[in-house]
Amino acid sequence: MAAVYRTFSVGRAAGQTISEGRIIRTCLTAGRFVICGAMQYRELRIEVAAPYAEPLSELLGERLLPFQECDQGTLDAPPVGRTRFHLYLDDSQVPAVPDLLTAVHELVTDGTNVVIEQRDRDDSEWRDVWKQYFATRRIGRIAIVPSWEAADHQPKPGEITLHLDPGRAFGTGGHASTRLCLLLLDKLADYEATREAREWLAKDFVKGDKAQILDVGCGCGVLALAALLLWPQARALAIDIDPEAIEVTDENTARNQLTERLRSSTKRLQRFKESVALQFGNLTGPTLHLLCDDMVRHLRPGGVLIASGILTIEADGVIEAFVQRGLVLVSHLQEEEWSGILMYRPIDGTTQL
Ligand SMILES: C[S@@+](CC[C@H](N)C(=O)[O-])C[C@H]1O[C@@H](n2cnc3c(N)ncnc32)[C@H](O)[C@@H]1O
Repeated sequence: MAAVYRTFSVGRAAGQTISEGRIIRTCLTAGRFVICGAMQYRELRIEVAAPYAEPLSELLGERLLPFQECDQGTLDAPPVGRTRFHLYLDDSQVPAVPDLLTAVHELVTDGTNVVIEQRDRDDSEWRDVWKQYFATRRIGRIAIVPSWEAADHQPKPGEITLHLDPGRAFGTGGHASTRLCLLLLDKLADYEATREAREWLAKDFVKGDKAQILDVGCGCGVLALAALLLWPQARALAIDIDPEAIEVTDENTARNQLTERLRSSTKRLQRFKESVALQFGNLTGPTLHLLCDDMVRHLRPGGVLIASGILTIEADGVIEAFVQRGLVLVSHLQEEEWSGILMYRPIDGTTQL
């Protein structure tokens, strides 16, 4: 599946990630954690001949304007040989538009067409904008089906169908880091080192038992929910520092009729006592460094950690941090510039790869 957009955020601070669902709001507010009510924003589309894509992305970067880039490799493809940039500008950014457009016209020196479209939009439209680009995705056995495609969806044999809407939270499986986690989850049975964890996940839970699955930074709940569908006996705890992520997770949990089996919370990881068989941490490299002590503490012996959101250049450092805390690397996958890792906590310190 092609990417929906290539997304770029500029002036990105350490520890921040580009979020596939959130990017539109990021663009609106020029800050990842700003939550806003209905607000007006300007959508600006600039389409140029493909050779101008790189200089134009540099120009936008210099002006600290976040953008999404569409070409033949993305779903919302412009005509062949052309590249289109989408910008979503808030009130403080709109005054920069005339000067930006002059610079764009000066950049394109060979007489090829520059197409500019501008439209004032309402923040509340964004969910519908997103719907145009989010179609059913398949990652291994897992099919992620948005509500507007659910009625027509035909499950394939052996498919795990996850009904999921992005809402305003991260994680529809469109971002490489989510995909890497889902791929590792789907392939868990391929690794002998995960046997103990899988046995735990398959046990019948008794009411009152603590969760066997922990999703740290659950976004829209995609990873915890996929794991619950794979292990119909298990229970999960999904946490996120973003209250909107928890709202969306709860909506998706209900959509999949898993409310009995998933608990969600904005409380910090340190507040919980769970010691789980399967833990997800699709966060960022720096956040994983910060949380690794607590994450390992919440993993039972024999338990498995699937972590991503790690830039491949950061991967060795993150793996080393977990190795120092007793985990063993089982698998390391890469896609684009992202890494996803599967590690486990040996029961008696012996390695069973
Ligand atoms: C990259 S998204 C991953 C979402 C989803 N799990 C997925 O795989 O698509 C990271 C999420 O982690 C949350 N987050 C960041 N730091 C966190 C922390 N210290 N504790 C819990 N959640 C955190 C963010 O709010 C965001 O929703």
